[in-house]
Amino acid sequence: AVTRTFSIIKPDATRRNLTGAITKMLEEAGLRVVASKRIQMTQEQAEGFYAVHKERPFFNDLVSFMISGPVVVQVLEGEDAVKANRDVMGATNPADAAEGTIRKTFAESIEANSAHGSDSEENAAIEIAYFFKPEEIVG
Ligand code: CMP
Repeated sequence: AVTRTFSIIKPDATRRNLTGAITKMLEEAGLRVVASKRIQMTQEQAEGFYAVHKERPFFNDLVSFMISGPVVVQVLEGEDAVKANRDVMGATNPADAAEGTIRKTFAESIEANSAHGSDSEENAAIEIAYFFKPEEIVG
């Protein structure tokens, strides 16, 4: 089924002017950008977005990293969008990511890993609503 997922092009990638290159890989994976905006996340926004990781040892570093520069938040639509996006992103740790994936190609580290993608359709809906109003999404 055609579904939606949520993606972030992270600060390590915007810093290196990789927004277009990463978006191209997403599009070539069959995903369509139906909403997109470049934002500077606030600390509160980043803490709320990653609240599920609050107790993890990397939480504070992760929040600092995510507010270290602009990000591009996107809604992606396509056949089985969550899986299509995760497949083209590759593993969280670029050292484990397959050849040809976004993280293998561009990520600097497990933290500065260039892209985020929702891990389930349930979380995709929550994450999309966290950053976008319904009228900002044009399919
Ligand atoms: P993301 O898909 O955005 O979800 C949580 C993020 O936490 C992850 O990508 C990484 O950027 C970061 N992360 C996950 N595991 C670690 C780790 N072990 N050390 C540092 N950062 C991590």
